Amino acid sequence: MNNTVLVTGGAGFIGSNFVLAWVNQGLGTVVNLDKLTYAGNLDNLVSLEHSAHHVFVHGDIGDQHLVAKLLDEHKPRAVINFAAESHVDRSIHGPEDFIQTNIVGTFHLLEAVRAYWGALNTADKASFRFLHVSTDEVYGSLGKDDPAFTETTPYAPNSPYSASKASSDHLVRSYHHTYGLPTLTTNCSNNYGPYHFPEKLIPLVIHNALAGKPLPVYGNGLQVRDWLYVEDHCAAIRRVLEAGKVGEVYNVGGWNEKTNIDIVRMLCRMLDAKQPRADGQSYANLITYVADRPGHDIRYAIDATKIATELGWKPAETFETGIEKTVNWYLAHQDWVNNITSGDYRNWIQTHYSERGEEMA
Ligand code: NAD
Ligand code: TYD
Repeated sequence: MNNTVLVTGGAGFIGSNFVLAWVNQGLGTVVNLDKLTYAGNLDNLVSLEHSAHHVFVHGDIGDQHLVAKLLDEHKPRAVINFAAESHVDRSIHGPEDFIQTNIVGTFHLLEAVRAYWGALNTADKASFRFLHVSTDEVYGSLGKDDPAFTETTPYAPNSPYSASKASSDHLVRSYHHTYGLPTLTTNCSNNYGPYHFPEKLIPLVIHNALAGKPLPVYGNGLQVRDWLYVEDHCAAIRRVLEAGKVGEVYNVGGWNEKTNIDIVRMLCRMLDAKQPRADGQSYANLITYVADRPGHDIRYAIDATKIATELGWKPAETFETGIEKTVNWYLAHQDWVNNITSGDYRNWIQTHYSERGEEMA
């Protein structure tokens, strides 16, 4: 088998960071299968336009024939599954796409991979890996003093998004247990960094602040998320791929819990220093409390002890260094954001935030 990997969803936020790092580090060729939903963006991969080590394929993980053809043609040594519908708020508005891609799509992908893997020779069969990229949201919500999620925390998903990811995790688990497919699953906390779609909290706040628009904080803003710089997540995935024990689950997190309001205030302080408003006011004056997300999970926190002790991975960035890089990236790439903030994105922002009592236009 050659040194090719099949990445799904590699035009999205985390997938494109993963593909860029993989190719730029000379780790081999990536076949990148992406449906290019509203969240997929080939601008993220423009630097690989002329690379012989990046093969982009526009398609759906649920298209089993296409996946079978790609596997047969490229003979990858691993499949890394990032493809998903990923936004909780959108899953509340319209869960169906989440069921289709995250559950049915993952099922068809697994079926195609099972057939491919089953036909490999013994050595290739032993070294092949299917790595499924999942989320800490499958574990549900923590109380203020509860211990962080470990790999044995029972699943208790609360949104259509997390329920669909939980279902896909179970399917992956069953394909290992029943068919022996060499699977690995990672459950990671909230990522942030370059190429993050501006419907999510951190890029939305940066974008709205620079545009002088309200900075919407759901409910009381005291919900807690555990933030990890996206390149650290990608490094963790590479580490699990190379050294993870087949059939195992690895939690990935930044040991970095913050309330939403603290995140928003920190971003305002950074922007005040880096790009002061013309009227001399603080960006914090744009903070606007809006109606809460239905079923909003209060707290996520990952215990990343297993991946640290068994595989020696820990984050390279602190939150301070990671958020500094992130804000600088958004300031230097406002064109990237402006190219996205059109069409489907504008409709989403208008409908979603007017329902929360705030006009963003
Ligand atoms: P994203 O929404 O930015 O990107 C998803 C990508 O998948 C897009 O390029 C989209 O076009 C593609 N896609 C969607 N449906 C597809 C289909 N049916 N077939 C092929 N491609 C399809 O998401 P992200 O934030 O990069 O997340 C990537 C993965 O990581 C997801 O599985 C998500 O659940 C998981 N995850 C995300 C976070 C986070 O903080 N963003 C944290 C932990 C885990
Ligand atoms: P988000 O980036 O959507 O990630 P997730 O829901 O997967 O954790 O949201 C992060 C947190 O920020 C979450 O608690 C919801 C909150 N939030 C706001 O307060 N305002 C916003 O406009 C958005 C998009 C999110």
